[in-house]
Amino acid sequence: MSTTRSGESNGQGGSGDLEAVWDIFDFTAPQPRYQDLVAKKVVELPGIMTLAASRSAVNEVLRHHERFSAAGSTLYQGNVRPLIPLMLDPPAHVKYRKVLDPLFAPKKMDASQERIAGRVNHFIDKFIDRGECDFSEEFAELFPSSVFLELMGLPWEDLDTLIRLRDGIMGEHPDVTADKRNEMLAANGQEIYNYFNAVLDERQRAPKDDILSQFLATRIDGELITREEILDICFLFLTAGLDTVRDSLTCMFAFLARNPDHRRQIVDDPSVISNAVEELLRWESPVPVAIPRKVIVDTEIEGTQVPAGSMVTVLLGAANVDPAGFSDSMDVRFDRESNPHIAFGGGVHRCLGSHLARRELRMTLREWHRRIPEYGIKPGHEDLVYSTGLRRVKNLTLVWPLT
Ligand code: HEM
Repeated sequence: MSTTRSGESNGQGGSGDLEAVWDIFDFTAPQPRYQDLVAKKVVELPGIMTLAASRSAVNEVLRHHERFSAAGSTLYQGNVRPLIPLMLDPPAHVKYRKVLDPLFAPKKMDASQERIAGRVNHFIDKFIDRGECDFSEEFAELFPSSVFLELMGLPWEDLDTLIRLRDGIMGEHPDVTADKRNEMLAANGQEIYNYFNAVLDERQRAPKDDILSQFLATRIDGELITREEILDICFLFLTAGLDTVRDSLTCMFAFLARNPDHRRQIVDDPSVISNAVEELLRWESPVPVAIPRKVIVDTEIEGTQVPAGSMVTVLLGAANVDPAGFSDSMDVRFDRESNPHIAFGGGVHRCLGSHLARRELRMTLREWHRRIPEYGIKPGHEDLVYSTGLRRVKNLTLVWPLT
């Protein structure tokens, strides 16, 4: 989930506007900059948008959809209609979440946990004997994609197509004009609709035990949801489901490879894994900003006036290191007793896939550290390249065992 920029984009927001947001970020080590922003609570980018940075300012925006509307978001990913449910406000939003939430409920996700662990091992098997891997490409890209394909009932052979379509939204086009980029997004968006439309035709003819078939049988207020509604959900799932876990994994493993004391805590006591996942989500905030919201009425955030019609973006990454929300907020501690981070957002749009994402992350940490307890960044590959937009390490190469 997040925002578009020329160069790297991650999918949500008026493209040009967010350039200005990215310019105040330090993508390699964002936390100290986040702290500066938190101290300001709210940051105004005149004529562009207002940024909510402190935990209380972010909560104010996320919890008041009646003042800060996601339906008015400037997000554009090549979609011709609002993405469902992300770009809807209640009450319409509630109706969709009511039918979507059960598909991603914790118990349902628990049932697939060991199958997810099996997938982790499937990918580790491919490189464990080599003693090194391009973690970003050989694991982080493939493992969550395989989980997504299974969930959606899509064949593995379609992976390249889906990655190409996702990259058509998220990919880097540093040298093209805004008009050209929008043209490319529109063409790519049409392909996304066409792809899912064709698969839905197949499922209509021959339903399977997958989410797409379930969508075709989903009713709201007694009526089957329309093909367009299903396409608008699928469009969002492509970005939400294919990139966020990948990005989180690269950030987490880069951190663990560089911080052997933390890595050893996981190896010595795997029962810390749940806490480690939450703490690394807080610290890394792989989705650093939510989609921009439109201000519906003249209002204020923490004393800063924001006029109706303007845009507000919340900085989830900054709020996650706000000392008012976390003791020792700049320390990474796997022993926190409570960790109310908002890496999955907050309010009505809180991440639909968080229970799935958590299980993917936990199973990876469990299986990886069981089989490859000692690892580090391959010598010569220490310069990690972090993307802008969604936070991801593009070139994480790991090596093991350590000598
Ligand atoms: C670690 C991985 C993930 C992170 C950090 C993450 C983060 C987020 C955040 C911050 C939002 C709120 C955006 C906003 O309010 O503007 C969100 C919404 C959403 N996420 Fe995730 N996400 C993750 C994984 C997933 C997965 C695997 C799916 C699978 C389908 C998913 C599906 C969605 C959907 C559908 C929404 C929109 C919910 C709504 O509008 O009601 N996410 N996610």
